[in-house]
Amino acid sequence: MAYQAKTFPLSNLEGISDQTLEMHFKLYEGYVKETNNLTEKLAGFLADGKVDQEEMPAYSELNRRLGFEYNGMVLHEHYFGNMTRSGGGDADSRSAFYAAAARSYGSYDIWKVDFVGVGKMRGVGWAICFQDPSSGRISNHWVSLHEVGNVAGFHPVLVVDVWEHAFLLDYKPSERGKYIDAFFANIDWTAVDRRMAPDVGRRG
Ligand SMILES: [Fe+2]
Repeated sequence: MAYQAKTFPLSNLEGISDQTLEMHFKLYEGYVKETNNLTEKLAGFLADGKVDQEEMPAYSELNRRLGFEYNGMVLHEHYFGNMTRSGGGDADSRSAFYAAAARSYGSYDIWKVDFVGVGKMRGVGWAICFQDPSSGRISNHWVSLHEVGNVAGFHPVLVVDVWEHAFLLDYKPSERGKYIDAFFANIDWTAVDRRMAPDVGRRG
């Protein structure tokens, strides 16, 4: 069954233009399409119940691209899904996320310093705050491209795209910090809290 591109009711955000969003939605749809294309092509190889030796090079190349396309699809859904026009600012001090940040980093403020710091790292990729579902602990990670650095089994709870396409229509390449400030002005903390494990308050 093919994946369908989701739609996100995002416009009039602070510091991230509608033009950027429209362009970005199209890029995201490309990842959905390419994920489906790869899956279909791989199914073609498997149709006769085996992978022949002469098929291996092409079969391998398609498989190597799966992580890029799948994560490109899923991470964009997380990114768009953790923004809203009426969001923004910092996490509510009574929220599950705030409590987890305090437990994992000593304070929410230190968590934020780290998350913003990761987002400003040189390179093309993502800053992602994951939650370890087994301990409830959260940790920030740099992900290169879409697939290098994700932690297996951890849940992405806050995701920011720091590829240049995410902000180049609105900011200079050197102004990634301004873009990350704008991102914070639009965070949907309710959506972030929904991603947290429900019993996080008792663990970690
Ligand atoms: Fe992107």
